[in-house]
Amino acid sequence: MKHLISIGDLSPEQLETLLDLADRLKAVAKAGIPHPLLKGKTLGMIFAKSSTRTRISFEVGMVQLGGHALFLSTQDIQLGRGETVADTARVMSRYLDCLMIRTFDHQDVLDLARYSSIPIINGLTDLLHPCQALADLMTIREHKGHLRGLKLAYLGDGNNVANSLLLACAKAGMDIAIASPTGYTCNPVCIAQGREIARTQGGSILLTDDPFAAVAGADAVYTDTWVSMGQESEKALRLPIFSPYQVNDAMMAAAKPEAIFLHCLPAYRGLEVTESVIDGPNSVIFDEAENRLHAQKAVLLTLLAPGAELP
Ligand code: CP
Ligand code: NVA
Repeated sequence: MKHLISIGDLSPEQLETLLDLADRLKAVAKAGIPHPLLKGKTLGMIFAKSSTRTRISFEVGMVQLGGHALFLSTQDIQLGRGETVADTARVMSRYLDCLMIRTFDHQDVLDLARYSSIPIINGLTDLLHPCQALADLMTIREHKGHLRGLKLAYLGDGNNVANSLLLACAKAGMDIAIASPTGYTCNPVCIAQGREIARTQGGSILLTDDPFAAVAGADAVYTDTWVSMGQESEKALRLPIFSPYQVNDAMMAAAKPEAIFLHCLPAYRGLEVTESVIDGPNSVIFDEAENRLHAQKAVLLTLLAPGAELP
């Protein structure tokens, strides 16, 4: 593993190994055992969009691994004033050991990887959010004991989070059903890639505009904001289009009784999910948010210290 740009780039074995390492890192951290396996290493974190979880979990993860993280807002670095991605990549490769980026255009992450000599981690683009999908699988496995054969229903916008979930569920041999309004389904390239993966891994992909068809028999129900970063001007247009896809008590009642509820956060209570669901007994959103930390530590170790032994 050279970079983490898309879950689609990982083999099913690499994905499972990352999840296993994340579980072990969580256990070691909970036991209070120091594990400074990235001593002296520095992670750069470029942010062109807001973040709470990604920024904090990467920074805390590096601290727990004995390294250091630098927050680099595009409002402050020259990338935001027109310095090219290629030059930024080559310069930063001379200072840093690893670079995470959250940005708009997915091509910028691909270019960064092309021109850098250090590992690149995709911390969210308009297309994908692989770090989120890793934490999501970790959380589902933690609550259900396994992944293969489980059904996840995603309701709402076929956005970056949905695209990465589609790829992650397919890699894990899960069934995924995505219900979105017409015109708002997942990226066609991700759908084609997901279908190809599902074919070899034994899972299935259902794309529908019927939310009740998606949640039927689901072990996990997932949603995300209807208005992603960069789409703020479309808010008034989007809300009425998406309202039939709200995850509410009726929607959860149509899933399996023990179905868990997930959301990448930040959530907008009363829009994509009701308070009764997100704050209800089946919601695992804070485990999911916590698992960002453990899953990303597994990614950092795999990229920067492969083969390092945990204490
Ligand atoms: N889920 C997620 O990526 O959260 P942030 O935008 O707060 O990083
Ligand atoms: N789809 C959301 C995810 C935020 C973590 C966005 O891109 O804004």
